Amino acid sequence: MIRLLHLSDVHFGAVDDRLLPLLLALARDLRPDVTVISGDLTQRARPGQFAAARAFVDRLPGPVLVVPGNHDMPLGNLGLRLLAPFANYRSTFGRELEPTLTLPGAVIQGVNTANPLVWKSGHLTRHSTDRLTATFAAAPREAMRIAVLHHAPVPAADGTPADMADADAALGTLARAGTDIVLSGHTHMPHTGFAETAAGVLFLQVGTAISTRLKTGTNDFALIEIGADSVTRHAWLARQGEAFVPSASARFLRTSTGWRGLPEAV
Ligand SMILES: [Fe+2]
Repeated sequence: MIRLLHLSDVHFGAVDDRLLPLLLALARDLRPDVTVISGDLTQRARPGQFAAARAFVDRLPGPVLVVPGNHDMPLGNLGLRLLAPFANYRSTFGRELEPTLTLPGAVIQGVNTANPLVWKSGHLTRHSTDRLTATFAAAPREAMRIAVLHHAPVPAADGTPADMADADAALGTLARAGTDIVLSGHTHMPHTGFAETAAGVLFLQVGTAISTRLKTGTNDFALIEIGADSVTRHAWLARQGEAFVPSASARFLRTSTGWRGLPEAV
């Protein structure tokens, strides 16, 4: 059983300062085997914001896998955005934008969906596809194959269409690569489920862990327990002005025909 702490959209530069220490304390108490942050580490990709994000990551229980989001590319400096969109990200988190992490029973592949040529929507490039496909092909047969994307090719919790170019094609690509689970953020709305056209891919999305950029009036994150063929996702929510409290749990079973939702965990 792997305990995975899933955070997203922390947006240093627009952080709720009351929630930051609460999250760090909870992260330690939850004793995850691995922590994943699915993009938008910063609000405007400024060096000081990246420095704060780095200090935060260094205080999380490791190993910590991060991928960039659209906010991690400079918005105002067009030259930098076009010539070296990930320069500040790389000087903070290393050159690798698509890290791989292997654990007993799982392989986790980061995917960079941030597209410097558009304002905020994502894309799945050929380079990322090849990387993902190769990583998952080389993994042990029984390993849970987990892809971490900032943008997911599925609608948000409120039905807003996927904010991703050629989302249907990206969904097919993820399925063909053998992806079991996609961890994502971007919408600032938590969401779980599977796509009708790719029943073998389970989508687990969290909102914003600690930023003030709320869409639903709540901050949230998830602790995900990953077994050989099962996933239990425990949501944690903080209503505005309050501390994080445990919320709903969702259970899923991996079968030969895809994922199946199970009654709520007890
Ligand atoms: Fe965000």
